[in-house]
Amino acid sequence: TEHAPTIRRADYQPLAWTVERIDLHFSLDPDATLVKSRMVCVRNPAAEEGPIRLWGEALERLSLLVEGAGPAAGTVREADGVLEIDAGGERAVVEVTTRIDPRANTTLSGLYLSNGGFFTQCEAEGFRRITYFPDRPDVMARYTVTLEADRAACPVLLSNGNLLEEGDLPGGRHYARWEDPFPKPSYLFALVAAKLVALERTVATASGREVLLQVWVEEGNLDRSEHAMESLIHSMRWDEETFGLELDLDRFMIVAVGDFNMGAMENKGLNIFNTKFVLAKPDTATDVDYENIESVVAHEYFHNWTGNRVTCRDWFQLTLKEGLTVFRDQQFSADMLARAAGPEGAVSARAVKRIDDVRVLRAAQFAEDAGPMAHPIRPDSYREINNFYTATVYEKGAEVIRMLHTLLGTEGFRNGMDLYFSYHDGQAVTCDDFVEAMAEANGVDLDQFMRWYEQAGTPRVKASGAWDAASGTYALTLAQHTPPTPGQPEKQPLVIPVAVGLIGPDGRDRPLRLEGESQPGATTRVLALTAAGQTFRFVGLDAEPVPSLLRGFSAPVVLELDETDERLAFRMAHDADPFNRWDAAQRYAERVILALAGGQASAVPQAFVAAFRALLNDAALDPAFRAQAAALPAEAYLLERMSPADPAALRAALIATMRTLGGALADDWLALIDAMRVDGAYRYHPGDAGRRALGNLALRYLAAAGDARGLAAASTRFESATDMTERFGALAALVQSTSPAREAALAAFHERYRDDALVLDKWFALQAGAWRWDDAVAPTLERVRALMADAAFSLSNPNKVYALLGTFFRANAAEFHAADGSGHAFWAEQVVALDAKNPQVAARMARALENWCRYAPALQSSIRPQLERVLAAPGLSSDVQEIVGKALA
Ligand code: ARG
Ligand code: ZN
Repeated sequence: TEHAPTIRRADYQPLAWTVERIDLHFSLDPDATLVKSRMVCVRNPAAEEGPIRLWGEALERLSLLVEGAGPAAGTVREADGVLEIDAGGERAVVEVTTRIDPRANTTLSGLYLSNGGFFTQCEAEGFRRITYFPDRPDVMARYTVTLEADRAACPVLLSNGNLLEEGDLPGGRHYARWEDPFPKPSYLFALVAAKLVALERTVATASGREVLLQVWVEEGNLDRSEHAMESLIHSMRWDEETFGLELDLDRFMIVAVGDFNMGAMENKGLNIFNTKFVLAKPDTATDVDYENIESVVAHEYFHNWTGNRVTCRDWFQLTLKEGLTVFRDQQFSADMLARAAGPEGAVSARAVKRIDDVRVLRAAQFAEDAGPMAHPIRPDSYREINNFYTATVYEKGAEVIRMLHTLLGTEGFRNGMDLYFSYHDGQAVTCDDFVEAMAEANGVDLDQFMRWYEQAGTPRVKASGAWDAASGTYALTLAQHTPPTPGQPEKQPLVIPVAVGLIGPDGRDRPLRLEGESQPGATTRVLALTAAGQTFRFVGLDAEPVPSLLRGFSAPVVLELDETDERLAFRMAHDADPFNRWDAAQRYAERVILALAGGQASAVPQAFVAAFRALLNDAALDPAFRAQAAALPAEAYLLERMSPADPAALRAALIATMRTLGGALADDWLALIDAMRVDGAYRYHPGDAGRRALGNLALRYLAAAGDARGLAAASTRFESATDMTERFGALAALVQSTSPAREAALAAFHERYRDDALVLDKWFALQAGAWRWDDAVAPTLERVRALMADAAFSLSNPNKVYALLGTFFRANAAEFHAADGSGHAFWAEQVVALDAKNPQVAARMARALENWCRYAPALQSSIRPQLERVLAAPGLSSDVQEIVGKALA
């Protein structure tokens, strides 16, 4: 695929032939695996006549038979990775045998080896690396799979669906035969053959069917599999209760593998996970790890309906399953947090989850929208589909679904989901099909709403208010504008739900009454902004209100509103919407930090420190929320808000802000360390997690300020901690400081976890992300280079690459963009080296420089030659070509 052409959404054509059934036989061998496939191909009545088309990549074809006979000369052609077979009639049986080399497969796409076991990853186009097949999601076939392998090396043989039979074979080998009762696209095929053990549970579904749940891990990790199992059971219950969706198989398996490109994969009945999102025990996993596991397990489980039972017609529709499933997992996590918090704390707990999600969106997706890779949630073209598993498709896609939920209400949304399944169960469909079901179920027109699927870019909503004291009327004017993105110079107005509240001078929300209404209603209302500009008149107000707009982040837009510092402080103290209370704090912090970075201010203003302090110490707020409010905006987001982006100046401003807040509020932070202590043995509980998060943040600020009491507390906690959240929190505080204790702590941590791959990932990431708090410390790049030589590091393991290189490139801008250009040269060197092994991982790293045009001119002149150097590298994958080519265009 070196010179992959551009694929366009508009060019979609159904295939002339699809596959009804496929019988696969694997004779597994690390260096030479034989794959025999027998396909029942059928003519597609919806398509024009044409040959059977089978995709293949990195395959050695040993034989090909059509209908029991070898194909006649001239009836088979192979070009650009597609095998074309002329066939007549309505049905044809094609048998093909291929040989593949799992050990040589370093791409981790298709069939590959990890720690001696066999694993697969087929989404998006990995199945064609296993056998010849019409490897597109609109081909849904029934699969039977026989696996054959060495019994000692691979005692466990798994594939999708139900186990039909298993037994011994001569020569120390054995076999297992599986059948998946549901038709599925090839990207959902999976097999695992490895030395694993399972944690098992039998549970009943809502309708009373008994199902077997298994979490498969390496033997030494059985004590880390419990949380994933519990998360799975919670996910099953939630989907039954929330959407009436039940597990449709007798058995559901999760398998953990240490070498994996992404987070996890929803293969039918056989989800394969990166170990990072399965394994947890208190000594090795933090609260955040526990949370992530719960949400990724849920995400993959929810795909069984939104993705597998109803799948995508083509890969341009990826957000059909991903946006919807991310929305579902976000709702699930919010419900789990709310449940743990109880009725009193539920609103705040939900806001904490919303804040987490919006942080990710603003840091990753807004940046994507502002660069050369900007694309609509349903892209119009791509060269490598793997490059489009993006924050836009996933996170903005989830925001688009959330807006439908906001506009239609919980019940209307549920009705739309029910109709969607009733129409499309068992089909491969498009985003239009989904939105049409939502529209029909609710009797509404969503034509204009579809623009969210068509237009790239982050919309701006400019708000202004006019108060008329004589009539008690507040006129709110909203205007929308979406900036141009590559290939889309002009944009049409979108449907933007804007949740609004009006706060009175006493700090309390006013009931809202729009002009023409007879009664005041709720204190938060959702306005639908559909035109370029609109004015909404609120009447019957006793005093000039302070507007609180886009409550709960009701749309994925940038809200532009002129607010004084005083007003931000007022909303920090009084906004009834916890999300907006947090957002007011973020806006104020952003203003302070960017003024420092831009040289318009030389110190953090006292008023900001006071407002920050009041929020931090508001005991009526739960600790998890206070930890969110006291965390500064993400560096990536701030860089995005700076023009030109100046990483060094921003870093200096962040250091100054951390030091000021750490020093000025030292007594408050010290008191919090005590107040937030969690006694007793570790349990994963959101309430405890919030306390630990706030305690760890206190250590961070104190350490940043070089406060001796804080540093002593961090050292003590590092030594005496009994769980990873506290141990790692203390270590992070020490590393992000000028304390001489940091090196000894890093060494002790390494010693303790020297054989624990996942914990060492944290250790790598912490060092790659380290700021330089004093000039005596060597540049982080030197540390990163040295760590690449560590025995635990490997360029072949994605988790290691993401932890060390990914953190350095994507979460340590000031060090990466060092003025001497050393970081940029290092980037080019590593992208080229990675590309030879694993193009998907290389392309992810390559994306770290795509927004280079936003940087100051001196950095641009250092970056450009490195981009050019990568693009000129011989044998560069189309994955990296697409990214770097777009960056340079
Ligand atoms: N469908 C998977 C998920 O969202 C992600 C698979 C991504 N694979 C890839 N090659 N990009 O959970
Ligand atoms: Zn997904």
